[in-house]
Amino acid sequence: MKRRDFLTTSGALLAGAPLLPHVSSAAGPAATPAASVPTAPSPPPLAPRFGDARDWWFQRRYGLFVHWGLYAIEGWHEQDQWRRRIPRAEYSKLAARWNPTQFNPDAWLDVAERNGMGYLCFTTKHHDGFCLFASRHTDFHCGNTPYAGDLLKKLAESCHRRKFPLCLYYSIADWHHPNYPNQGRHHELPPQPGDRPDLAQYTEYVRAQVRELMTNYGPIHGFWWDMNVDQRVDPSINALIRELQPAAVINDRGYDRGDFGTPERDYSKEGAVLLSFAQRTEACQSIGMESWGWRKDEDYYTDRHLQRSIARYLARDANYLLNVGPLPDGTLPEVAVRFLDRTGAWYRRVREALEGNRPASHLTSNRDVLLTRRDHTLYVLLTADPRGDAVKLKPLAHLPRRATLLNTGEPVRCSIDLVPTEHGDQGRYLRLTALPVNEHANTVLVAKLEFDHLPETLAPVGATGVSTA
Ligand code: GLC
Repeated sequence: MKRRDFLTTSGALLAGAPLLPHVSSAAGPAATPAASVPTAPSPPPLAPRFGDARDWWFQRRYGLFVHWGLYAIEGWHEQDQWRRRIPRAEYSKLAARWNPTQFNPDAWLDVAERNGMGYLCFTTKHHDGFCLFASRHTDFHCGNTPYAGDLLKKLAESCHRRKFPLCLYYSIADWHHPNYPNQGRHHELPPQPGDRPDLAQYTEYVRAQVRELMTNYGPIHGFWWDMNVDQRVDPSINALIRELQPAAVINDRGYDRGDFGTPERDYSKEGAVLLSFAQRTEACQSIGMESWGWRKDEDYYTDRHLQRSIARYLARDANYLLNVGPLPDGTLPEVAVRFLDRTGAWYRRVREALEGNRPASHLTSNRDVLLTRRDHTLYVLLTADPRGDAVKLKPLAHLPRRATLLNTGEPVRCSIDLVPTEHGDQGRYLRLTALPVNEHANTVLVAKLEFDHLPETLAPVGATGVSTA
């Protein structure tokens, strides 16, 4: 997609910024010395909840993204047709080879569920225009292939049986439909023989397919638009989705802003500086570095990279989709299952730090970690490269009753110390020490700290050291 300005997203911001002294607005005009007294940073804001059936999305924050389509046959990239300049007439021949006889949606859902994932987002139509549902509005769908069945129907049935929320990905760019104005812009083919470009007419095709998707497959929990190259605005299409499927959350890549932002792949740029996402956000990332669809010769991210990416979003009140591309026969590649199982083993151990918590990184000025909290329990996520085996949590100066490394279940050594490198304010702060950073170098460590009392906010360090609010 075009990089979105989702990060106009205000959030509680900016490395260290909330800890800078500022005048408390609550102080009122009479509190004259307030201007020079450092005040406690507020907890980072949460993204607004819906207050309706869409709130399932805040209960299930980690999901599986699946990119599947004709492109899996060649196994090069989901945008094969465009990136290798394959003429439409040539690419369409793949439909005659589409026969995923081993497709068993329960096997996919088993992998997702056992790894702590709570929902699925599935490509019903990618840019190539091939539909994985039996549409009445085109011939280019899985019902018209040797497979001769409705893949989405099977998938939806399994999801419904398990009460597993199903969201549908749908590309507006379409390299097959004659009315889509392919003009050789980004993510578009050059004009093809037989084209009858007509954006208005094409939009009606989209609307008709949306209606099919929203009526023929039972409860649908989300609609995931992609690639509105024309940036056409038409709120009536999302309105139709909302009318037919009130629990469906809608992303921001369609015909209006929808419900949530969709940062993709990178976690280290603008989003890295937020203490929380004040706008509803769902990041997405593939296990493969090159492709979202199945790629035979893929380069893969490290476990630690993916875990950091997941942790950095979930710890800041955002959702996360991790993507895999099934094989043309309908099974998940072994390499993908191994990835999901490894990530899942980590996720299941640390998940209590990532789900049902509030972001709480305002409690420390240490920007190498992210904090979340539930009541008086604080979770410390080592989301940056640990430079050493200790974590200092200035200005926090409370000693937890119990401290545990969630990755292993082992206790964590904690103390309140004056450390030589930070003698300036003579303050004594909480320190976690002797963490097994070398033994667990390819993972994200997460410590759980249980306090008798953990304040909502902590004043930053002033001339007299730490104070609690
Ligand atoms: C990128 C890819 C596209 C994929 C999407 C998922 O935009 O180019 O193929 O579907 O990411 O977010």
